Amino acid sequence: MTPLDDQIRTALLQGPLPAAEIMALALYAPQHGYYRQAAGPWGFAGKDYYTALDLGPLLGQTLALRLERVWQDLGRPAAFTVLEAGAGRGWLGRDILQAATDPFAQALRYLHRDDNPAARGAAAEALAPYIADGRVEFLPESEPIAPFVGAVLSNELFDALPAQPWRWDGERWVQEVLTATGPQWQAHEDPESAAWFSAQSDGLEQGDGSVWCAALPAVASTLAGALQAGLFLTIDYGEPAAQLLAKSADLRRYQGHTVDGRWWEELGACDLTADVDFTRLVNILEDSGLQNVAHQHLSKWVRTHAPLVQWEAQWQELDTATRLKRMENLLQLTMPGLMGERFRVLEGWKGAGSGPKP
Ligand SMILES: C[S@@+](CC[C@H](N)C(=O)[O-])C[C@H]1O[C@@H](n2cnc3c(N)ncnc32)[C@H](O)[C@@H]1O
Repeated sequence: MTPLDDQIRTALLQGPLPAAEIMALALYAPQHGYYRQAAGPWGFAGKDYYTALDLGPLLGQTLALRLERVWQDLGRPAAFTVLEAGAGRGWLGRDILQAATDPFAQALRYLHRDDNPAARGAAAEALAPYIADGRVEFLPESEPIAPFVGAVLSNELFDALPAQPWRWDGERWVQEVLTATGPQWQAHEDPESAAWFSAQSDGLEQGDGSVWCAALPAVASTLAGALQAGLFLTIDYGEPAAQLLAKSADLRRYQGHTVDGRWWEELGACDLTADVDFTRLVNILEDSGLQNVAHQHLSKWVRTHAPLVQWEAQWQELDTATRLKRMENLLQLTMPGLMGERFRVLEGWKGAGSGPKP
């Protein structure tokens, strides 16, 4: 029994709580929330889950080239800021800064935004050389973001926002709640999510449903709003709205590299996560002034932007173990059954023109 389990069990004596409220507490309650603890959950042995960054530097290397292309398209500004929201350990920033070459590297600044204490500690270590040379800053989530030219970036940010599962029971919408005796589906009115889900399907069938992230508009529009000109790029797992409805998307719980749907157990000790509704995210970003917003599988994005021929030549110079690691890193990012088709990359553009071509 975790301290949060105790706290929530007491709160449930007053009545049920929606799953999204439980997820918000489980991840972000001060001190006991999963992302408010001193030690981080990322990695392989003894950790809960890994992200693309644990697999090697290839995602960062590809992003460095993509961002350099954006910098060129913007007319090579003297300062090009990359704001990473939900930046975690700062490894993506580190890999981008390591891979960037002059003169783009001279212009590159990296802003880390993530209040997770474990993440901040690990990022201070990973980014130490770039903090020392003045190219990296930490921006608390409570602080407004001064407008900038460059890019907004995120990897697995939106899947970590509290989400509410909904179902159509054939006659009405029901939402998943936690009661003192366990999870249940209860009738509830929410005109906004109901209208959205209904509009994404030709006709709802019993059991159709998806996850509704109430915080999505505020988080996405704050980030997009700060971008004066440049690229908005987000990497995450999820699908277009109709596909989420068809599979009745739900909350998932990760612990020790196993995944299940028991989101109400061991609160604060496990990761809770939900697929991102990419259709809704596109709409929100378009309303926030971004143009040409589109998304594709990570596999296709990597194959479009990575310098595969150059890599092949460079890897010949590496020792066997490192070369194999690079190959594994590439396979993880591109194989459909691995991250290649589980993850999507969304890009949108702000400013004159239509944005950089590959
Ligand atoms: C799944 S982790 C991903 C971390 C990192 N990007 C990676 O790939 O390893 C999600 C992170 O997003 C952070 N986060 C959640 N909401 C946020 C927000 N509104 N602004 C900035 N960070 C946020 C959490 O603290 C957590 O560290």
